[in-house]
Amino acid sequence: MCGIIGYTGNENSIPFVLEGIKSLEYRGYDSFGCAFQGKNNNIEIRKDAGRINKIIDNYSLDKEISNKSIAHTRWATHGGVTKMNSHPMLDCSGKIAVVHNGIIENFKELKESLPNHLFSSETDTEVLPHLIEEEMANGKNFEEAVIAVSEKITGFSSFVVMNADSDNIIAVKSGSPLVLGVRDKGMFVASDVPSFLKYTNKVVYLSDGDVIAINKAGFKILKSNNPTKHKVREVTFSIADIDKGKYKHFMLKEIMEQQSLVSKLVNSDLSYIKNAASLVSLSKRVFLLGSGSSFHIALLTANLFRDLGKDAIAVQPQDLLNYSKTISKEDVFMIISQSGETMDVIESLPIIKDNKKIGIINTEGSTLANVVDYFINVNAGHEKGVAATKTFTMSAILSCLIAMFSAGEEREALNDLNLLNINLYNLFVPSVYKTIKDTALILKKEKDIFFLGRGNDYISAMEAALKMKEVTYIHSEAIDSATFKHGPLALISKGTYSVALVSDRFKDREINNLKEIKARNGKIIGIANEKMDVFDVFIRSQPAGIFSFVPQVILSQLLSYYISLSKHIDPDHPRNLAKAVTTK
Ligand code: AGP
Repeated sequence: MCGIIGYTGNENSIPFVLEGIKSLEYRGYDSFGCAFQGKNNNIEIRKDAGRINKIIDNYSLDKEISNKSIAHTRWATHGGVTKMNSHPMLDCSGKIAVVHNGIIENFKELKESLPNHLFSSETDTEVLPHLIEEEMANGKNFEEAVIAVSEKITGFSSFVVMNADSDNIIAVKSGSPLVLGVRDKGMFVASDVPSFLKYTNKVVYLSDGDVIAINKAGFKILKSNNPTKHKVREVTFSIADIDKGKYKHFMLKEIMEQQSLVSKLVNSDLSYIKNAASLVSLSKRVFLLGSGSSFHIALLTANLFRDLGKDAIAVQPQDLLNYSKTISKEDVFMIISQSGETMDVIESLPIIKDNKKIGIINTEGSTLANVVDYFINVNAGHEKGVAATKTFTMSAILSCLIAMFSAGEEREALNDLNLLNINLYNLFVPSVYKTIKDTALILKKEKDIFFLGRGNDYISAMEAALKMKEVTYIHSEAIDSATFKHGPLALISKGTYSVALVSDRFKDREINNLKEIKARNGKIIGIANEKMDVFDVFIRSQPAGIFSFVPQVILSQLLSYYISLSKHIDPDHPRNLAKAVTTK
């Protein structure tokens, strides 16, 4: 996903935007560029395909001085990964520079409407500066021109515009995130808060439809559907929370944080869970919506709801249309999303416009957080590793708590949460680390690994397999142990590795299935609460009642992390992946 940062203020803006754009690297990118106001009041552009640091060095960008600049990391959608397709994009005069995050669906028609303009890239973005130029040539001022263009484009597109002749940088928010950072000496606009948190914790979250001008003195709402919403708020997290600290990778730091996050949750006031739970109790049915890891949370929670006697369906956004004729107004939706920006989910929202929506979201001010009726802040802190780790765990726990509370099982839920808290201390012991590291050295050579489980263990297996794919590039497949004998067993030959996730509930049946694998000379890594004869390698998990998936998943996260290290892959930036998937 593209990243955007802009700064205008009394000091040199270049160090601010370079530091900010580096912090946005985690979103995934293939090119980087920066526009700044040059000495002769012109716009200077430095951009290229490749890594940020290299491009900064190649162009000595860190030596430049300017009090107004914008920068961008590009995640290619329209047009190849080339210098010309990198942002910022300029108009014909070279005075208007634009960085953009999103897709302009009608860009072809718009481009055709500008026959006298000179285009130099294959991108949809390039129509923006030319359209603004055209509007200004037709008599509008800069601000009016940007508003007019924001109304002409279709699809979800947030963009930021600089004009050599104006003190203002203008931000347009639609779909992709944009947030303002307010300082005494200047203003930021950026894709996320951590990119400027070192300099200010005062933020304004923008909403879709906003067109906002920033300059040294502050910000001005040029257009908005929610003009009263632009309060300056102080974020509660600090720069220390988003730093790698003593860890080599964010992924490891974020895995290790899970224990303290659970302990913090145990000691917190959970009345907000009760409110969400009462919304659920009043509903006829619960739909749980999410993608990737968030879909796995939906599956886990739907299982739990059904165990508790409540009708529940986990659905991926791309399948929601298929349910549209069966959804009634009395159905409530639980929307799960770490980023709050997943386009597949956002796009499916019109189907459920009449339904009450509870959002379990880790990003305050995100698009989804802004549209749900009841926002549950996951409060896992900023997650930088592309693979969801702590946000998976904490969102899943909150989601299960809502299910339990809605069924009047508060005491049982809190008992299990306490058990989880205690047993996470028992999980992180040296012998377990050693086994995981040794196992990583065995599995790193594999081309295929199967992850097996029954019931919720199968869903833990799905999550474990997804992590393995993301950070080790090993083909990993989760298979329900009960269905293994119906075909997949044919894939087992001498030495094929399977990782079995075994909690107490389905233990006996699971062992029978695993024996069938052993009989075909397959190898089994067991993640379980007790050692079993059928395991070739045993990784000790811990019991945690309804939350037993948490220790299982944490162990599998660590296993993937160490395999990633042993294969010299950067687990924080796996190839081809973006932290938030804002494309369709
Ligand atoms: C998880 O490790 C992945 N990075 C991915 O599957 C992710 O869970 C999915 O894209 C959904 O993201 P969201 O939670 O931000 O909506």
